[in-house]
Amino acid sequence: MRPAGELSGSVTLQGAKNSALKLMAATLLAEGEHVLRNVPRITDVEIMSELLTSMGVDVRRAPDGALLLTQPGLGACIPEAPYELVERMRASIVVLGPLLARFGRARVALPGGDNFGSRPIDMHLRGLEALGATFDFAHGVIEARADLLMGAHIVLDFPSVGATENLLMAAVLAKGTTIIDNAAREPEIADLAAFLNQMGATVEGAGTSTVTVEGVDRLGAAEHEVIPDRIEAATYLAAVGVAGGEIIIAGARPDHMDMLIHKLGSMGLRVAEVSEGVWANRAGRRLTAVDVATLPYPGVATDYKPLLVAMLSVAEGVGVVTENVFASSRYAYVAELQRMGADITLAEHHAVVRGVAHLSGAPVKAPDIRAGAALVVAGLVAEGETVVSGAHHLDRGYEDMAAKLVGVGADVRRV
Ligand code: EPZ
Repeated sequence: MRPAGELSGSVTLQGAKNSALKLMAATLLAEGEHVLRNVPRITDVEIMSELLTSMGVDVRRAPDGALLLTQPGLGACIPEAPYELVERMRASIVVLGPLLARFGRARVALPGGDNFGSRPIDMHLRGLEALGATFDFAHGVIEARADLLMGAHIVLDFPSVGATENLLMAAVLAKGTTIIDNAAREPEIADLAAFLNQMGATVEGAGTSTVTVEGVDRLGAAEHEVIPDRIEAATYLAAVGVAGGEIIIAGARPDHMDMLIHKLGSMGLRVAEVSEGVWANRAGRRLTAVDVATLPYPGVATDYKPLLVAMLSVAEGVGVVTENVFASSRYAYVAELQRMGADITLAEHHAVVRGVAHLSGAPVKAPDIRAGAALVVAGLVAEGETVVSGAHHLDRGYEDMAAKLVGVGADVRRV
């Protein structure tokens, strides 16, 4: 890519990756044909489809683009998630709860670390144990058993998204009442709960810190539309933030991004709700630097952070960024931004970003999905050509990113 001046026009959002993957796993809870609409065409969805297919589920796209997932009867499903699929996508761990709930047993490879560092699943396991599951670990595999899941009161040490989702999907078929306290409040949790309730579950309080589940004996197949992807929306907000101009992000839900929109406003990016979604405009002067601290929802999401660091790299002033969600600081992309001329100093969980007037284009490597997006955003204003390698990371989470950016006037080519 090369700088191409201000952006204009409209970009349409895909469905949320971090909801679609969990909704697909949730279909394991009930026999029959489930219909999921607005499921993004991204690599992670393909990996989850492969995983479910390896268990005996029939997964296909309907002519209208809906994802049809046909769950076979109990006897025809293999409750196993092999290492070759789990190591490609950590999110595979969320099949553990639904498999235990429906089949009473599961064999799931332990997800290893990734470039965020070690990502334990202790809260998932402790919560499932509280519901009555037992675990054996051998050769990198979890052998899980639960003859009968019983409702329990679970307090999470940290509002983990994955742990909340796994426990929700186990509790819906458990005997009695489950209360999950200090639960994650991300919009994707409420989306999962809405789908579970359409299947016949009784989940209340999703989106708050206390979620209550009344277990039921059985669930049925259902239909659901995935919420829009707020992280993808943040990516296009960052793009217009650095390049300037005015765009519409069709389908965006401002109520899912309150804190981010507030933060962007203090940087000088005007964002407002419109009938199609969200309107964003930066006219004239450079962005203004602010401090940012990532927090669980409704705080500023850790997934927005690489994008904000890219914006701060060309803002006026100094911004201090602090990572509070992932134990490792998740700054693998900073060295790549520094290669483009960004002035960033790292100190443990903090990044001190001194905005520079100009970045210069360079060949850079994407270490993961969101970091890759941040390098693309930086490349929109870096003088000369920027080539981002490792685009397969972007494909894991973004549908047609290059085409969408070209659609609002950027000079981006997929090579
Ligand atoms: C989800 O990951 C998202 N992934 C991540 O987005 C996102 O960054 C993260 O939530 C936080 O918002 C998906 O939904 C597929 P967590 P998850 O459990 O569920 C610690 C993207 O780019 N923890 O909320 O894995 C953990 O190590 C991805 O789309 C434990 O210690 O996140 C981390 O420090 C990247 N023990 C913190 O909690 C546990 O048992 C938050 O993790 C579970 C988590």
